[in-house]
Amino acid sequence: MSSVQYKALKGMQDILPPDIYIWQKVEAVAREVFSSYGFQEIRPPVVESTNVFTRSIGENTDIVEKEMYTFKDKGDRSISLRPEGTASVVRCYVEKNLHTMPSPQKFYYAGPMFRYERPQSGRFRQFYQIGVEAFGDPGPRIDAEVISMLRLCLERLGLREITFNVNSIGCPECRPAYRERLIEFFAGGLDRLCPDCNRRYHTNPLRILDCKVERCREMRKGAPRVTDHLCNGCRIHLDSLLSYLELMGISYTVNPDMVRGLDYYTRTTFEVTSENLGAQNAVAAGGRYDGLVKEFGGPETPAIGFAIGMERIIELLKNSVAYDFPTPDVFIAVIGALAARESMVIADRLRGKGLWAELGCSENSLKSQMRKADRLSSKYVFILGDDELNSGRLKWKKLSDSSQGEISMFEITDFLLQRSS
Ligand code: HAM
Repeated sequence: MSSVQYKALKGMQDILPPDIYIWQKVEAVAREVFSSYGFQEIRPPVVESTNVFTRSIGENTDIVEKEMYTFKDKGDRSISLRPEGTASVVRCYVEKNLHTMPSPQKFYYAGPMFRYERPQSGRFRQFYQIGVEAFGDPGPRIDAEVISMLRLCLERLGLREITFNVNSIGCPECRPAYRERLIEFFAGGLDRLCPDCNRRYHTNPLRILDCKVERCREMRKGAPRVTDHLCNGCRIHLDSLLSYLELMGISYTVNPDMVRGLDYYTRTTFEVTSENLGAQNAVAAGGRYDGLVKEFGGPETPAIGFAIGMERIIELLKNSVAYDFPTPDVFIAVIGALAARESMVIADRLRGKGLWAELGCSENSLKSQMRKADRLSSKYVFILGDDELNSGRLKWKKLSDSSQGEISMFEITDFLLQRSS
C-alpha cells in the first residue's frame, strides 16, 4: 500500500456540501441581479499569455511581481493562470471586437482566480470571483449603476454591516502632479518606511497610502490627499457619482487612502468592506479603467467593473444567514428482491418530475434503511415490500413529525409534488 498522503495544495480548498449550496445561492442571486441590469455572461479561459496580465495589472504591482502562477507551456510560451478577470475580459473585448455590440457592452463572469499569496483567513491561492465589466460609457451614471447593482446583490443575499468605500484616483492629466506631491512628502522619511514602501516610492508611491505596516501608517499622516488634487474633469465626475449614490440611498464613505493594487484604474475606485471579517475585509472591489482597452490595441473605450470575492461573502453568510440545505424528498425503503426492482421504476418516475428520490437496499434490514433515511434527512420514507406490491398501497412516514399514512401506488408522484418545496 502506498504511504504517500495526498493533500490539496496550500491555499487551495475543496468546496463541499453543505457549503456548496451557499455558493450556488450566491451565484444564482448574482446572475439574477446582473441580468436585470442587462449584463450577459462570458467565459474567458483560465490561462492567458503572461503579457495579458503584466501589461494591464502593471509590472510593478504585487500581483505581477510576486503572485502570478507563470509557466512555460510545451511550446516554450510564457502563460499564466489568471490572477483576476478584468485583463482577460479586456483581451477578449478587443480580440472579438465586442465594441461593435450596442453600447454600453455589459458582461459578467464567474470562476477561479490564482494568486501565489501567503494564505491566511480570507486569503487563498485559488479563490473565486464573480465579476462584471461595463464598456463604452464615460459618465458617472454607469459608475453609480454598477455600485447600485453590487448593493442590490449583497442586499438580496442578506448581507448587512458593510461599508461602501469610494474614491477617485485621478486620471493621466492630474495624477502625475499628485504623484510628485507624494514623492516630495515621503522624500525625507524613506528610512522610516517598510522595504516594500521604499520600492513603491520609486514605482508607485500611491500604494504607500494603503500599506498596512504600522510605521508606514504613521508616516503617511498628513500626506497630500488625492481628492484634493483632482483635475476639474475628475472632480466633477466624483461629485456627480456621489450625488447619484445619495439619490439612490446608498450610504458611502469617501476614503482617499483607498488605493487599489492594480495599475489600470482611473478616476472612480471602490471597495466594499465588512467589519465581520479579519484583516482581509474587502468582500468586493472595483473601479474605472478608461485607458485599458486602448492599451490592448482597441478603440478608446471607457470602462468600469468590480469583482466579488466569493470565499469572503460565503464566510459572512455562513455566520449571519440561516440556510435550508436541500434534502431528499423521499427515501424508498424496500423489503425483498421484487420490491427492490419495483422501487427503481418508482424512483425513476419521481426523478422525472424533479423530485429527489433515494433508494434503500434490500440486503439491509428495514431498521438500518430507516436509519439511513434519517441520516439523509429525507422528508418522507415509503416502505415497499411484497404486501404493498400485492395490495397496490404503501405506507409513508414523514420524518420531521413522525406522522404516517397509506396511499395508492398511483398517487405517489402527486402526493410528493404537493408536499415538496
Ligand atoms: P481585487 O481587489 O484584486 O480586484 O479583487 C476583488 C476581490 O476579490 C477582493 O475584494 C477580494 O474579495 C477577492 N480576493 C482577492 N484576492 C483574494 C485572495 N487571495 N483570496 C480570496 N479572495 C481574494 C480585482 O480582481 C479586479 N479585477 C476587480 C475589477 C473588476 N476591477 C474592475 N473590474
